[in-house]
Amino acid sequence: MRTKNMSRRDFMVSGAALAVGLAVGGGGLGLVTGCERSGASGTGAAATIVAAKEKVQAPPEWPWPYEPLDPKTVAQRAYEGFYEGACMYGAFNAIIGALRDKVGYPYTAIPTQMARYGEGGVAGWATLCGALNGSAAAVNLVSKDYAKIVDELMGWYTTTHLPTFEPSKPRVNIKATSVSGSPLCHVSVTEWCKASGAKAESPERAERCARVAGSVAAHAVELLNNHAAGTFAATFALPASIKTCGGCHLKGGTIENARGKMDCIQCHTPHQ
Ligand code: HEC
Ligand code: HEC
Repeated sequence: MRTKNMSRRDFMVSGAALAVGLAVGGGGLGLVTGCERSGASGTGAAATIVAAKEKVQAPPEWPWPYEPLDPKTVAQRAYEGFYEGACMYGAFNAIIGALRDKVGYPYTAIPTQMARYGEGGVAGWATLCGALNGSAAAVNLVSKDYAKIVDELMGWYTTTHLPTFEPSKPRVNIKATSVSGSPLCHVSVTEWCKASGAKAESPERAERCARVAGSVAAHAVELLNNHAAGTFAATFALPASIKTCGGCHLKGGTIENARGKMDCIQCHTPHQ
């Protein structure tokens, strides 16, 4: 949490809670007295601090307030964030950071570094693309309709030539785009390596993923903006295999031994 992004009031509130913690722990009353001097009125520092501590302990109810954001600046921020803390951090920090600038508290209280684990499809396992993971986490924080919005985001990701975002000052020049057909980091990266001829650990591939972080965060914001404006409409249709294979293997099917919305035939050969 960077203090320069916190309002003075929020900073004092956390400071007061910290002072209570220290006082309770036997850490010294000097801090509490300091708080009293810095603003508490005649009702006494203790009452102010208890109220402040309650405020800090009870975060606002979910979902948190959303304000429309500019997809282009969010994309640029995600691109730059990628080079600080990788794909999930890039996307998550861009959206939360933009909300921090626009709304302030409670977004000031989120340590966006918590999204670093999503790098390379979760600590390099190449499962869910971190740009999707980070964007979906932010969507979930601000909307009860997160599943509909995330469905749309994932569907768009699997069917779009990525990256869509071009930074104003690219760190590395790349041209290729690719369609993954999958939300998995592994498939997405390797399809792009096939399309570009670049190696998976090259600066070109990293640049591609930085731009994907920008592309995905920007699209998430477009969807959230539409949702906030009441103009959100789901347009993504699930792959045909979900219906054909699903009749037997998925929910309600005769065997019902699988789950998911990923295209079955990307990994399995249809059988008779
Ligand atoms: C009409 C019902 C039906 C449909 C439709 C169907 N399956 Fe199956 N599938 C079965 C049955 C029955 C088995 C055998 C189950 C067992 O042995 O436990 C099976 C087995 C499998 C297996 C494991 C055995 C193997 O062949 O490797 C996979 C994987 C599989 N199906 C994938 C798919 C996919 C992908 C689709 C869509 C392209 C699909 N199935 C469509 C009924 C169906
Ligand atoms: C990303 C790759 C991937 C996708 C996409 C995928 N599967 Fe699989 N699936 C696997 C793997 C790997 C296994 C485990 C190995 C195996 O049994 O083939 C598996 C296992 C299965 C099995 C059990 C096979 C058995 O041996 O009995 C079924 C049935 C199955 N999948 C159906 C589906 C259906 C239906 C879909 C689409 C909704 C789907 N899968 C999508 C990779 C995938």
